[in-house]
Amino acid sequence: MRVLVTGGAGYIGSVVAEELIAGGHEVVVYDSLYKGHRGAVPAGAEFVEADLADAETLRRTFRARAVEAVIHMAADSLVGESVQNPAKYYRNNVTAGLALLDAMRDGSVKRLVFSSTAAVYGEPEKQPVEETDPTAPTNPYGETKLAFERALRWYEQAHGIRYASLRYFNAAGATRLCGEWHNPESHLIPIILQAATGRRTHVEVYGDDYPTRDGTCVRDYIHVVDLARAHVLALGILGERSAVYNLGCGGDGYTVNDVIGAAREVTGREIEVRTGARRPGDPAVLVASSSKIRRELGWEPEFQDLRKIVSSAWEWLQAHPNGYGEGK
Ligand SMILES: NC(=O)c1ccc[n+]([C@@H]2O[C@H](COP(=O)([O-])OP(=O)(O)OC[C@H]3O[C@@H](n4cnc5c(N)ncnc54)[C@H](O)[C@@H]3O)[C@@H](O)[C@H]2O)c1
Repeated sequence: MRVLVTGGAGYIGSVVAEELIAGGHEVVVYDSLYKGHRGAVPAGAEFVEADLADAETLRRTFRARAVEAVIHMAADSLVGESVQNPAKYYRNNVTAGLALLDAMRDGSVKRLVFSSTAAVYGEPEKQPVEETDPTAPTNPYGETKLAFERALRWYEQAHGIRYASLRYFNAAGATRLCGEWHNPESHLIPIILQAATGRRTHVEVYGDDYPTRDGTCVRDYIHVVDLARAHVLALGILGERSAVYNLGCGGDGYTVNDVIGAAREVTGREIEVRTGARRPGDPAVLVASSSKIRRELGWEPEFQDLRKIVSSAWEWLQAHPNGYGEGK
């Protein structure tokens, strides 16, 4: 299939592009590089540097490349920033997303895999969270992802665009070529590894008095390759139907202390930890159930072990101490 990956120069999108190419698909990466990195676009992919809001370039790209499906990863995804600046999130995650859907409608592209988020569930009442649980986002990031999911339902009804929405918490780990390099970095594993390299002085743990095994929050980490494979797998159902799937690590999740312990083991380095206050709105446990996608699509994560996840991120960071070398 010829697949356009929006946000394919970003962390997860670049690995999705790698997996597509490995699976024999032709890939067009569409990314403005406003956050992503040219060096993250796999060699076998065609690259279009443009913004989603640029409707004309989108239309031209669909026409000229005979695109058959889209994997939509481009978005803003910082929870705190979304609370400070909701307009930015509505503009990029909803309005620019609609420009993509309109261009798909005009170009008769009928298949879309959407990288949603488990933030659509807000603070779930039970764990692990399932697709049938109520959605109640607690920040504009989750709210705008849910708004786009809802738009997908109506675009399917009106224009026959089928979709698979994938909802997950924390992508983690790396391939040999592509790893996580965000500025600012908000994700736990790269933050811990930056402390291991001395790029930051310490890791701040937000609260150690939660009702969990060791008092620190429990979260779900999925290896980015397993995630990317789920996106590629989801393309397969779109000839027949639309669907929503959660993706989770499949177990009980990992505490912040588990992750720090794994990083100390993998790196063999001291990592200074300072324990601060809880952050408002941080639930004790957030874990997603993958039962549905395992059952229906046969998705089997290969790199679920926390040590494998941290090792792959560490290997990438050692090979790329300055990220993609662009100063961002
Ligand atoms: N990283 C995670 O743990 C996680 C968890 C759940 C969901 N997600 C979702 O996965 C997707 C990818 O996340 P990521 O961590 O790889 O993010 P990222 O910031 O590394 O990648 C996003 C990419 O999209 C591009 N982009 C953003 N807006 C654009 C626009 N208007 N036009 C063109 N390009 C644009 C950026 O330049 C960047 O390359 C996002 O949609 C995010 O909401 C991520």
